[in-house]
Formats: sequence, structure tokens, C-alpha cells
Amino acid sequence: MNPDSKVYIAGHTGLVGSALLRLLAARGFHRVVTRPRAELDLTDAAAVGRFFQAERPEVVILAAARVGGIRANSTYPADFIRENLLISLNVVQQAFATGARSLVHFGSGCMYPKLCPQPMKEEHILTGPPEETNAAYALAKLAGAQLCHSYNQQHGTRFIVPIPANLYGPGDNFHPEDSHVIPGLLRRFHEAKLRGDGEVVIWGSGKPRREFLFVDDLAAATLFLVEQYSENRPINVGYGSDVSVLELAEAVRRAVGYAGSIQLDVTKPDGMPRKFMDSSRLTALGWRPSVGLEEGLRRTYQDYLVSSAVQRKVG
Ligand SMILES: NC(=O)c1ccc[n+]([C@@H]2O[C@H](COP(=O)([O-])OP(=O)(O)OC[C@H]3O[C@@H](n4cnc5c(N)ncnc54)[C@H](OP(=O)(O)O)[C@@H]3O)[C@@H](O)[C@H]2O)c1
Repeated sequence: MNPDSKVYIAGHTGLVGSALLRLLAARGFHRVVTRPRAELDLTDAAAVGRFFQAERPEVVILAAARVGGIRANSTYPADFIRENLLISLNVVQQAFATGARSLVHFGSGCMYPKLCPQPMKEEHILTGPPEETNAAYALAKLAGAQLCHSYNQQHGTRFIVPIPANLYGPGDNFHPEDSHVIPGLLRRFHEAKLRGDGEVVIWGSGKPRREFLFVDDLAAATLFLVEQYSENRPINVGYGSDVSVLELAEAVRRAVGYAGSIQLDVTKPDGMPRKFMDSSRLTALGWRPSVGLEEGLRRTYQDYLVSSAVQRKVG
């Protein structure tokens, strides 16, 4: 992609959008367009139409979505499906109407069936019902992916649906009650270190295996796909190997420099034994991630320290 291209990042304040903003700046892109949500609510069709008519971006990266953990998904399922469907409909239609050369619509691992064979391959999508707790979100994501597929089929567009593994990195949500697993663990180990606690308790047996991708690697893979990918079907973007929950907790303990021990509470449920993506189609195209878990955790923890210090100053 040429650094003179006009690129619109929808959701530039989020985990994924901010990583893309950093990468495009580092690569010298000087026509990057963003709008804060307060200025452009992407669920508002008329406002989205006016914005696209005025800006006419050549490449559209849709990293805006209503995203949340299990609690938010089960408390607000109507908001999750409604807002995500509207964001996808409005942005995809306007990107098409104003002649965008390419669009990226991020999918999510929740698009895979709850009981998906492992590793999860793209052809497993829609072979079974999604997990019940986030079905509304998953169905909105599936509809967004189908929307891109159908526009490509009918209109010859190049709308791409990368499906990232669990992401982590600078800009993550470290909220104590509604964060993903890595920022949640970083925060808990950090607070245990400050209090001088002797142990941190982890739910379950520690055996379930999960895959994590550093968000800057996703940003690099996204630009790679915009340049290289021409098939009309979603593509997995994973790290290529997974870790057990206990191995992850040990790695977080090292990143934080916490000296206490890890205790497992085996009375708590484990969840699915494994969730791992087959990313062989992406690696066959020649892309590899470059940030390993230890390095990624170290960078995420640094970001947490800086952002929590800033918040303390502001607060
Ligand atoms: N994080 C992961 O582990 C992960 C894994 C797989 C796939 N993904 C996918 O990646 C995409 C981005 O996720 P993320 O983790 O970066 O989410 P995030 O950190 O929550 O960021 C979401 C972004 O969307 C914006 N937004 C939400 N509703 C909007 C609206 N109505 N109008 C305008 N902007 C709106 C938010 O703006 P505000 O800042 O104003 O709220 C924010 O900039 C999503 O499609 C998600 O499904 C994420």
C-alpha cells in the first residue's frame, strides 16, 4: 500500500484501531482519516453517509465495534447485536458507494461454533451454533462477514475479513471487572505485588489452552492482507501456537516481577479445553508474527504502568 493512500480507520481509539494508527504513522502514511465517536456515531446511517461523501477514503479499516466481556455480552445482548449490525451495514455500504478500493472488516473467534473441531479452520464457520453467552455479538460478526462476502460477489469489491486470535497489547482495557484475560491477569499480579500478597489465585485447573496475538502484529498482518489477499472468504490471523492458562499466568508473573506463588482454584469451571486457530493459509502467503508472548507481555505491562500513572495524575 502506498503511503499516499487515503486510509480511514474507524475505531482508532480502540485496541486494534490505535495499533493501526501507530503502524500507519510509522510507515509514513500522511492521509489517515479518523473521527472520534462523539463526532461520528457509526450507527447513524445519515452521518456515516455524509462523512464518506466528504472524505472518500481509498482504504477503509473497520476496527469499530461494540466489544465486551461475558458480563457485558449477557447483560446487553440487544445493544451488542443492534449496534454491531448497524456499524457494519453503514460502513460497508458507504465504502462501496464512495468507491473504496479495499475494506477490512474484523471478524472474531466467536464466529466459530462453540463445539468447533480444533484447530479452527475457516471452513468450520457456520457449521454449528455459537457459544450462547455471546451469540448476539457472534451473529452480528457473522452477518458482517457475509455482508462483505456478498458485496464482493455482487459488486466485485475487495472487502476482507481477518479473524484475529485473542489480542493483547498497549491500549488494552484493564478494567477490573470487564477486561480480557491478559489485561485482567496483569492487573491482578501488579496489585498483588504492590500489596505484598503471597499468592494469586487462578480459576480452574490451569490446563485449558488459548492463543494470543500481540496487537501490533495484527496491525502488520492487516496491511499485509490489504496488499496481498484476494480470496473472497475470511482468513484466520493467529500467533501459530498456544499456551495453557497456567503457562500464561507464569509468563504474566515474570513480566510483572511478582515474587509470590500461583494457586489454582480447581473448584471453578475451566471453559473449553482448547481454542486455537489454524492460520496456515496466512502463513502460506508469507506472513509471520514477530512479537512473542514474553516480549508482548512486557510491552503491555509497561503501557499499563504508564496509563495507570497518567490516570492517577488526572484523577
Ligand atoms: N480485542 C480482541 O481480543 C479481539 C479479538 C478478535 C477480534 N477483535 C475485533 O477487532 C475489532 C476491534 O476490537 P478492539 O478490541 O479494538 O475494540 P475496542 O478496544 O473496544 O475499540 C472499539 C472502538 O470502536 C469504537 N466504537 C464503538 N462503537 C462506536 C460507534 N457507535 N461509533 C463510532 N465508534 C465506535 C470505540 O470508540 P470509543 O473509544 O469512543 O468507545 C473504539 O474506538 C472488533 O471488531 C473486534 O471484534 C478483537
